[in-house]
Amino acid sequence: MSETKKHSRTSVAADRASQHCIIPSCGAAFGIQERIYVCSQCGGPLEIEASPDAPRNASELRQTWEARGTAQNGRDRSGVWRYREMLPFEDDAPVVTLFEGNTPLYDAPRCAEYSGLRALRLKHQGCNPTGSFKDTGMTVAVTQAVLLGAKTVVCASTGNTSASLAAYAARAGLQCAIVLPQKQISAAKLAQAMDYGAAIFEIDGNFDHAMRLVRELAEEDSIYLVNSINPFRIEGQKTVAFELMQQCGWAVPDNVVVPGGNLGNSSALGKGFEELRSAGLIDRLPKLHIAQAEGAAPLAREFARLQTESQSKRSRAASDSALPDKIEFVEHPRTLASAIKIGAPISWRKALRAVLRSGGQVLTVSEQEIADAKAMIGRDGVGCEPASATTVAAVRKLTASGQIKRDESVVAILTGHILKDTDYVSHYHRGTLSIETASGEKQPIAASFRNVPVSVPATKQSVLENLRRRRE
Ligand code: F0G
Repeated sequence: MSETKKHSRTSVAADRASQHCIIPSCGAAFGIQERIYVCSQCGGPLEIEASPDAPRNASELRQTWEARGTAQNGRDRSGVWRYREMLPFEDDAPVVTLFEGNTPLYDAPRCAEYSGLRALRLKHQGCNPTGSFKDTGMTVAVTQAVLLGAKTVVCASTGNTSASLAAYAARAGLQCAIVLPQKQISAAKLAQAMDYGAAIFEIDGNFDHAMRLVRELAEEDSIYLVNSINPFRIEGQKTVAFELMQQCGWAVPDNVVVPGGNLGNSSALGKGFEELRSAGLIDRLPKLHIAQAEGAAPLAREFARLQTESQSKRSRAASDSALPDKIEFVEHPRTLASAIKIGAPISWRKALRAVLRSGGQVLTVSEQEIADAKAMIGRDGVGCEPASATTVAAVRKLTASGQIKRDESVVAILTGHILKDTDYVSHYHRGTLSIETASGEKQPIAASFRNVPVSVPATKQSVLENLRRRRE
């Protein structure tokens, strides 16, 4: 037996974890070591179910996790593997880690005021090792790739998944192939993948076309697909709910808001909160809200349809069994928040289920709203990439419509670092940001919170004079 096979027998928690199809009428179960991405019986999405590795009570788990926070060894330092009792691996699994997680939770008073709230907190997942939340999922998916004996790991990406995969594959010594929509990836994200040594394939198409191609590639035995269709990615990403609750002193916020693209992250957060509730670590779920850009909002459109339907039938919002079989995708997604420029999201079903179970909303925000919210996040000294700012823009809308009250507690999840897309920042502040409409016209985005460098003579007097004018 090969080394890898030995590992896979001892390191994946085969006796307490399995993969399940989430389609209620199917529900097929598969072993945790089966290299599948969708249900082989009905094609539905898979989800990992695992019972905690030992029957511990809530306070024991809290104490264990708290104690590991100050440790130096890799598994305890990682803000993902620290919570390993909730992951489908044995304690001795050889993990591939860059010490991901451990991201800050900030108070954001200017964003709170902007959004009409007394307080607003920002959980900055952009402070992960490669600058986005993807690292929390990638550490788990690449660990599983090694255990399965994969030679090559592959993903489609709008830029962050590929940067993250390239880094973790390099750590693991695996070949990495990434497929990207040409000319649609920010220079910073592409540069990361180049430096980490990935094989980069640019296609003449959008993210949804790239996704189709990597699914075909993953039919090869040696190639392992790590987009969020892979349930191991979701296992890693769900741990942000654990870390967040720890940072909140286990007091459940009323609302958590997250951007929606391929919809893996919202699915993962929903799963994380539900698992905490099952394990008795929290007693209720926060409302999970998903924010999508207006031009790339297939789930928001479906959500609005479901709301209208349930209102006309005077019934409660749809439950799991009433989830639609399909949703209408957006053929030509359009947004300057390139990370979420996705028309056919893979995980729409899991994400919609999580929103409905928690009583949250799926809503859209405009390009102008995203840009202004992003500048406001900057004014709090935090900063983020455009896709992340959909959250603060959405909070502002939910507060304005009375769906979130001024005193409710709200956490917005920021998903990517400000330096991921500096072209956008610069164009916004200079007033040169614009988006091409469906009819090919340029629609300008106003620099509502404009801030540009000024040229001054190199004298103390001229700088002081300028500063005085700004204070007036
Ligand atoms: N925010 C950022 C910064 C992202 O990079 C993404 C997704 C999202 C939000 C949306 O998360 O897909 O889980 O709903 N980026 C993917 C990528 C698609 O390829 O980097 P999601």
